[in-house]
Amino acid sequence: MRQILLIFSFVLIGCHNNDEPSLKQLRKPSLSEDLTGSQLYMKYCAICHQKDAKGVIGVFPPIKDSDYFLEDPKRAIHNILFGQSETIVVNGETYNTMMPPVKISDKEVVNVVNYLLNEVNQVDYKINIEDVESV
Ligand code: HEC
Repeated sequence: MRQILLIFSFVLIGCHNNDEPSLKQLRKPSLSEDLTGSQLYMKYCAICHQKDAKGVIGVFPPIKDSDYFLEDPKRAIHNILFGQSETIVVNGETYNTMMPPVKISDKEVVNVVNYLLNEVNQVDYKINIEDVESV
């Protein structure tokens, strides 16, 4: 039985290599490429940061009117792709909690961050795909 399993695994590995999936596909198994920034936010972020993006004081920092977010919106790209667990201060409140990485595509990162900038915070600034790729 064990041998059969072993052979089966090799066959699987063999097939896998033949397909040559790009690293990008492996890293981000997202199927929701067509969601808007607002839909992405509701799907991936609202559970912690809340639907109104005002967070929960001391646990989940706000993104709406967040001095931390608005001071450097590109830092949010890193927060999303790699998570965030260093102690941060948002609007005078210290957060020492943990945000896990969110597995969404580069394009989705652009859409969700621009939604947070333009619609949630009414700020006239956009990040682009090159910003995400460089992080
Ligand atoms: C499982 C809960 C959780 C999810 C899901 C989550 N976050 Fe966070 N997020 C946190 C926590 C907790 C922190 C603060 C971490 C710390 O203390 O360092 C944080 C920090 C941040 C920050 C920096 C601080 C601020 O509020 O300005 C941004 C920006 C952010 N998250 C954006 C997002 C976005 C966008 C998504 C969805 C794509 C998301 N987060 C999903 C929990 C979450």
